[in-house]
Amino acid sequence: MQKVISSAIVHGVYIVTVQAQGRKNGMTAAWVSQVSFKPPLVMASIAPARYTYKLIKNSGYFAINTLSEDQVMLAKHFGFQTGRKVDKLAEIEHFEAGHGSPVIKDALAYIECKVIDTHEAGDHTLFIGEVIEGKVLKEEKGPLLFIWEKFF
Ligand SMILES: Cc1cc2nc3c(=O)[nH]c(=O)nc-3n(C[C@H](O)[C@H](O)[C@H](O)COP(=O)(O)O)c2cc1C
Repeated sequence: MQKVISSAIVHGVYIVTVQAQGRKNGMTAAWVSQVSFKPPLVMASIAPARYTYKLIKNSGYFAINTLSEDQVMLAKHFGFQTGRKVDKLAEIEHFEAGHGSPVIKDALAYIECKVIDTHEAGDHTLFIGEVIEGKVLKEEKGPLLFIWEKFF
């Protein structure tokens, strides 16, 4: 059924980044969406097992970095290893958004969000964030689409 759902609903591929407890981290996420226009709210669906989950609970802020069509390797780098064991941002050029969330310089765009609510949803948790800053960093490339077979 997962392959059918992934064909039925189209997602981009993002790196959700956070800074807390003296650590910076990022993880790949496909389950990201805007959920309100006014105020501008987005959600990121993150499993409690992720190190990123723990860090966002601690900081109350996160950033969403949008990948371009040629960044599959970056999606794998952030999606198949945990920040508990490696510093995934060590060799990735980045700067800090206003509330400390790392922004990947090579992303298409980013937004930084303040967590205003969380909802448990099955084996994931929805982090609802109000967008507090953001910028388009590159105009010339298209976004990376989440194609199940490309990654799993
Ligand atoms: C293409 C792709 C999409 C993913 N989407 C999500 C997602 O939406 N939510 C989630 O919790 N994990 C998702 N993951 C898994 C996490 O990125 C992965 O478990 C990561 O290693 C967690 O890192 P962390 O422990 O440093 O937080 C995805 C992985 C890949 C490769």
